[in-house]
Amino acid sequence: MNYIENLKNGNINLNEPVLLFDDGEEQIYWVGSSENFIFRCNAYLVRMPGVNVLIDPGGIQHFDQVRKRVSEVINPSEVTHIVSHHQDPDVAGSIPLWLKENPELTVVTTPRTKVLLPYYGFDRNGVKWLDVSTMDDTILKGNKKGFGIQFLSAPFLHFPDAFASYDIRSGFLFSGDIFAAIQQEWELVVTDWERHKIEMMYFHIYYMASNKATRYFANKLRPYRIEAIIPQHGSIIPKEFVPNAIEFLEELKCGIDLLEGTNYLDILD
Ligand SMILES: [Fe+2]
Ligand SMILES: [Fe+2]
Repeated sequence: MNYIENLKNGNINLNEPVLLFDDGEEQIYWVGSSENFIFRCNAYLVRMPGVNVLIDPGGIQHFDQVRKRVSEVINPSEVTHIVSHHQDPDVAGSIPLWLKENPELTVVTTPRTKVLLPYYGFDRNGVKWLDVSTMDDTILKGNKKGFGIQFLSAPFLHFPDAFASYDIRSGFLFSGDIFAAIQQEWELVVTDWERHKIEMMYFHIYYMASNKATRYFANKLRPYRIEAIIPQHGSIIPKEFVPNAIEFLEELKCGIDLLEGTNYLDILD
């Protein structure tokens, strides 16, 4: 069951993992930071048969609270995979600490991100990697048919070799910095699309490369059954607003589109 609709305006205890999806065989939890900050960081745990995937685990300073939330679901040493949608410190800084919990875990990322991650302080040759292909054909499979995560390349959004993750069972799109928002007042699930669109705009106009890049990725998403968009910053976008969010990305002017003669903030008027 997709619990996201039930979490709108809900009284949610962010000091505990928040269950977003559970169909009896797969569970997805929010396990992010409860820090009250406009750049709040989300992390997620996906449990499916034989596999426990931690998505964008976050910075070093958030490790203790993310670990605490994970430990309320599984033993942290049972995390089998970490997905790192790109190499920024707010996404990936804690990876060395997770590798201490389980040196056998696999880091899932793109080749150009893989080059950079070991600079957080681990041995690139001592780690298992799953390389995400630009052909979008990399799938992390559970131990049972019908369970898995497909990885979709998202060039220049915002890292040249960024990607997003589509969970086949739930239909959730883990989007990294894409569809992220900068919010004075954070809520776990978007309730007011018009307000949220502005909050997303504040993030995207600076970070994302250009409309060519956002349109390419928006078109890539069209064939997928997307039940929710789950970003690394800002609120979760529930199913009712998914078409609006894809349209937002398709029409967005950002990055180098605004390089000449445009005050970036004019676009918000
Ligand atoms: Fe980033
Ligand atoms: Fe980020």
